[in-house]
This record gives sequence, structure tokens and C-alpha cells, in this order.
Amino acid sequence: MEVFFLNHDEEVLRLIDSYGDWWNKGFETPSMTRALYPYTAMFSPVRVNRLTLKNRLVMAPMGNISMCDETGRPNAKMLKYFEERARGGVGLITSGLIPVSFGIDTSLIELGELSYFPRIDRSRTVFAGWRDLAGMCHAYGAQFFIQLTPGLGRVGNPQCLMTQTKLPRSASFNPNWYMSSVPCARLSDRSLTKIIKRVGQGAADALACNIDGVYLHGHEGYLLEQVTNPAFNRRKLGKYADVERFGVDMIKEIRKRVGPHYPIMYRIDLSLALNETYGDKMNTVSSLKKFKGGRTIKQTLHYIDELVKAGVDMFDVDLGCYDNWWLPHPPSSMPSGCFLDISEIVKKHFAEKEIKSNMGLDIPVVAVGKLGYPDLAEKALRDGKCDMVMLGRPLLADPEWPNKAFAGKVDEICPCIGCQEGCLNEFVDGGHPQCAVNPRTAFEEEYPREVPLAAVQKKVAVIGAGPAGVIAAKTLIARGHTVDLYEKKAIGGNVVPGSKAKIKYEVANYLAYLEKIVEDLKANERFQFVNAEASAEELKAKGYDAVIVAAGTTQSKPPVEGLDGKNVCFAVDLLMNPDLVKDAQNVVVIGGGVVGAETAYYLSYELGKSVKVVEMDKYIMNHACTANRGHIIHYLEKNGVELLNCTKLVKVEDGKVLVSQNVNKNVPDPYLTWGPILPSNVENPLDALHKIKDEYRDRELEADMVVLATGVRPADKLYYDCVDAQVAGEIYNIGDSFRGARIFEAVRSAYRCAKNI
Ligand SMILES: Cc1cc2nc3c(=O)[nH]c(=O)nc-3n(C[C@H](O)[C@H](O)[C@H](O)COP(=O)(O)O)c2cc1C
Ligand code: SF4
Repeated sequence: MEVFFLNHDEEVLRLIDSYGDWWNKGFETPSMTRALYPYTAMFSPVRVNRLTLKNRLVMAPMGNISMCDETGRPNAKMLKYFEERARGGVGLITSGLIPVSFGIDTSLIELGELSYFPRIDRSRTVFAGWRDLAGMCHAYGAQFFIQLTPGLGRVGNPQCLMTQTKLPRSASFNPNWYMSSVPCARLSDRSLTKIIKRVGQGAADALACNIDGVYLHGHEGYLLEQVTNPAFNRRKLGKYADVERFGVDMIKEIRKRVGPHYPIMYRIDLSLALNETYGDKMNTVSSLKKFKGGRTIKQTLHYIDELVKAGVDMFDVDLGCYDNWWLPHPPSSMPSGCFLDISEIVKKHFAEKEIKSNMGLDIPVVAVGKLGYPDLAEKALRDGKCDMVMLGRPLLADPEWPNKAFAGKVDEICPCIGCQEGCLNEFVDGGHPQCAVNPRTAFEEEYPREVPLAAVQKKVAVIGAGPAGVIAAKTLIARGHTVDLYEKKAIGGNVVPGSKAKIKYEVANYLAYLEKIVEDLKANERFQFVNAEASAEELKAKGYDAVIVAAGTTQSKPPVEGLDGKNVCFAVDLLMNPDLVKDAQNVVVIGGGVVGAETAYYLSYELGKSVKVVEMDKYIMNHACTANRGHIIHYLEKNGVELLNCTKLVKVEDGKVLVSQNVNKNVPDPYLTWGPILPSNVENPLDALHKIKDEYRDRELEADMVVLATGVRPADKLYYDCVDAQVAGEIYNIGDSFRGARIFEAVRSAYRCAKNI
């Protein structure tokens, strides 16, 4: 990568370069082992200012979007969600970002003056919620910090332009991240000073609400970073042309309001890693060009020192920003422990320079990023890579993670699979954060911890042992029912092929978790695993009270000539049997959704094939989380995989694929990873200027093998057969055989349905 004419850090460059085929570059593929048990480092106390945290585990801030009432007061959903995590044993809990700059940062308000963020800046109207929340955490010995954010700035919603006729705001004249053609107006020094006052007030209010500390949202390119990073702050005049001043003044203001003993934590990225990620694109892509002057590691460490002098007690560190979103939100395909080298840099810096907090204490450095494996977390602490370990998604997947690790019940931990379907993507799409593998996450107010016994015990058949079938069976047994779980192949369903590639190691861990559930169920005399196909006649003959069909999907094939040839296979079959492409060098993948793109990654990185992906949609991996999509696409490009979007498959012949590709200049760049795909319900007023005209050209692609990833259909025949034959009084169709092909919906529907039988 030729980036040497840009400001860059060798260490960051090395890391960025390693995130493609990371399994060859020193990163492990961890699983739920307990080699280092007992976890003495993890479960030792640590001091932060006057506070003692009972262990080294911190719950990461995860936006509590739409978990509050309309005033911004935390609601029952939010309270029970945090209580569950406190009960699970984590030492320090942090809230998601809580903005305090309403009326200044124009992107925060929606039509009708509403906001989806919880708020603390409304005084007594909202305090009761925060006081209850802090009290709930304290009941289990957990401390609670509130993450205050000065705002979103350029990464906020640009719809303020339409709804308020106001531009979004930022430190300088920066492009908005969602719509790069919308510029941000520069915030005045006066507005920034006002924000500092608001943060000070927020901290004072937090203290008054029995919240244990404040946590500044200084990473990922949000407004605090926009003002304190020269990539985004290119002001020449005024006091905040000094890029460190806004942050340092803010800490001083907080100290003024809360005194010397109230803990202050600061979240920072050691580098935006933009130059290292994009190299020469930083010179050619108009929305990236402005950001070439990002803080180097050296400059960040200097800023950190100034923050410590002003009164910060504790830091957590990561890498990246919105424009390379797979860094701050590392998806399934990124390595576990991806930022441990980053936290180590800060820890070593404090040690070498003998830097202490104003209380004369060591400054805990918290590591973050896919650390949800007890052995990995313990090793990081023992190796001195960090002082504390932050767990975000692992605590959504399993709030009992700390208690289970403490007790050595590591194989009972439900692993996060990095999909971001239930958490990040759900709230980006308009919901509230949840979890694909834990149906109770953010529904704790509705679902008690223990599944209640059913009033009437029933005999139930569950067909299919994918995630939906397994979770349904487990829940039904907990209800007191008798359950036969039918599976004609192996436990896991589509999870089995979905766990084969190296980048899917977390799915393999989830598969092991599902298998363990079934193994444990086998010890129960009310449960039977039937390794056979079920038919409607047999089910009827057995006289079940209820039948749940969770039969998964069947592959779909487009009506195109040549797809029945020997040189064509389905992606799922290839993943189960890589020999199918043994003799092929040039492989064309048809379908650029998640399965197609991930299969292309597998073919390119693991099997060393020359790969092209054909997709008729405008976008590759449309509807996937921007972070997941970004990582795959960025590294597909780095490995030379050609992505053809707006391209129709015409015919497959021996040795080649014929396609018709739209070459119009407005066809989006398939490798664009520095911005999002806007949801289809959001109208971009500038779309009319970029209308894609039909300019199709025929093209021949060399192909020794063609791999189909052209979607799936619900396998719902059995369900309709059962209904037709009236095999039981209650018949349900759930998960993939009802709709979709995501673990998120499968698990949610299984739990909800089984809990009500
Ligand atoms: C649903 C969700 C919401 C998030 N919201 C925030 C946030 O409000 N503030 C923040 O600093 N980071 C936020 N993050 C980033 C996490 O704090 C964390 O850095 C990231 O998930 C990586 O840690 P993990 O691998 O342990 O999940 C969010 C992450 C997720 C998954
Ligand atoms: S939704 Fe997916 S990524 Fe998010 S916490 Fe759950 S398993 Fe992890």
C-alpha cells in the first residue's frame, strides 16, 4: 500500500494490513476454553480515583436508542436491561452515548422536537430514571458510569436539513457521513463553549443521581473527536483552532463542577487509521480528501497526557471512525482481540513516562474489541496488554458472562457471533438494540429470567435442529413439555456451512454452543433427539399436541441457461466440500449478498482462487451492517476480487459466464466503504442528479467454476402438509421456514413461540 507521502503510523499500518488474512498474521481463532481458569487477573479489584471496581470487566457503552420515554427518561426496558448485566457480575457498567447538546447539534432532534436518545439534560423530569438505574446496578455491586457526548456532528442524521432547514454541524466545513453532498456548518467558539458548560452540568447531574462516574465519548469521529482531531478540525482562527483545547477545557469544567474525587473516563481512538486504511484513495475520493491530517499516535499520546493533567482517571482505546466503520465496530470477520496492541501502546506510554492520575494512582487502560473469550481476556490482562477488559456485544449475547467465567462454566457462555444483526443494525434500521443469539436481550422487562412452567404439559414435536429448532426445544423443556426434536442432517442447519470459513469462527463457536444445548437436553427424560426426517403422516400418527416446524430453507436458482452444468454448484455445497473447486482457478460467484461476498472471501483468501462476483443490485452486501460489509468489501478489493454490481447473469457455458453489465457513470463504486448505503425509506434529494441510466454491455468472464449464492426460499412444504393433514391442534412455522435467513429472527421467533405454548 503506497501511503508514505501521507501522515501515517507504521504500527497502525501493520495492524490494518493484518486484518485481511489475520489467521496468518498472529491472531488466534479463540473458542470457549478454560485453560487459564481460575481467572485471577480478571477477578481482581482495581482503583479508579476513590472508587474500587470489584473486577476488571467493563460493560462497553452501547447506544440505548429508543430505550427511554419521550422525555428521555430511561424506561423499564432500559432499567431491566442494565439490571440483568449488573446481576451477571460485570464490575463497571457504562451507558450508551447520552447527548447534552440539544439545540446546538442540529442532528439530534427529529420532527416534533423528539429524540430517540435517553437524556440527562432535562433536570428532574428524567432524574428518577437515572437514580433507579444507578440503584439497580449498586444492588449487585456493579458501578455505573454515564457516557456523555458533546454530540454527533458530521456523523449525525442529515435530515435536519429537511425537517429544520438547518445544516448539520461540525468543527469545520466537513461532509456529512450519511450524505456526503450535505456539508456541515462550522460550530462557533461560543457554541463549543456552551457545549462544554452542558457537559459540566451533565456531570454534576450524574453525581447528583448517584451515578458513579462520567465517561467522555471521544472516539470514532463523533463531535468530541471532530473538534479534537486535526482531520476534522481545520480551524485557523479562534481558541478551538488548538485541537486539544476543547477536550482539555471540558475536563477542567467537569472537575470544576464535581470536584477532584469523581471518576472521569475518556474514550479515545489512538488513530483514525484513515490514511493507513485507504492509502492513495485519500487523495482521490472527495469526501476523504479533507481528512488526511488525522492525529498520529504520537499526537494522541500527547493529547492523552494533557487530559490526564486536566483530571481524567481512566481511558479506553480503540482505532478507527465511521469512515472505516469495521474498526470501531469489529464484525464477525475481524479477529478477536484486534486492538490489544493498541491498548498496550498506551499502557507502556504511562509506565515509561511514569504518568499517574491527579490522585497519584496508576491510570487503568481498558482494552476493547471482540474480547468475549475468558482465556483471551485473562491472557490480555496477565500479559500486561491492558488493565481492564471491555465487553460490549459479549454481554448482549450473555449477560451472565462474568459469573460463568468466575465459576469456570465457560462452555455455558453463549458466544456473540459478530453479526451485528440484532444490536447495531437493528437500531440503525429504526429499532432498539437487541441480540441475535439472546432473545431476552432488551426484552428483560417482558421475559423473566426463568421460563415459567406451562399450566398444561404437552407433547410437542419440533422439526429442524437449526438455531430456531434448538432454542424452541430448550424453551419447551423449560416449560415442562415433552419434546421430540427431529433433524434429518446435523444439528445447526444452515449454521453448519455458515461456520466453515476461517472468518466464520464465531459461528463455529455458536454451533458448538447449540450442540451442547442438545447434549444437555438429552439428559432430560422428557426430551428425545430423532435423527430422521419427519413427515406429516408420522407426526399425525404420534399424536402430538403441538408441532413446530423450523425446517430452514431451500436454495433458489435463477431461470438462466447453463446453471444445471457440472461447472456450477451452490455456495453452501462448496463450503461443505471445497474439493468442488479443486481444479478451478477462475471462479465466478453469482450473487453479491452476504453469502456470495463471504464465499468470495473464502475462495480468494483461503483457497487462493481468482474470483469475480456478479450482482444485479446496485450494491454488494446490501442490507448487511455497514461495518460487516465494509470489512469484507475492503479486503476483497485488497485481494484483487472483482465486484460487478448492476450486472445481470445471461448464460453459463463451459469455461465462461456471459453477463450484461451496466457501465453507466452513475453505477455506484462497489468498493465504496467510507459511507453507508442509505435505507430505502430515506429519500436522498440529490438522487435525481445521479440517476442510473441503462447502458448495458455484454461481457464474458472466464470461469472454471460458477458458484451460486442467489438466495434461499423458506422450506415450508412440511408446514403446509401438516396443516392440510391437521396433524396437531397447534401447528407453527418459525424461523427460516417462515421467512428470512437470519439467526436473529430464527432465535427470536423460537423463544417467543415456545414460551407461549
Ligand atoms: C449496539 C451497539 C451500540 C454501540 N453504541 C456505542 C455508544 O453509544 N458509544 C460508544 O462509545 N460505543 C458504542 N458502541 C461500540 C462498543 O462500545 C464497542 O466498542 C464495540 O462493540 C466493540 O466491542 P465488543 O467487541 O466487545 O462489542 C456500540 C456497539 C454496539 C454493538
Ligand atoms: S446481535 Fe450478533 S453481534 Fe450483536 S451482540 Fe448479538 S450475536 Fe453479537
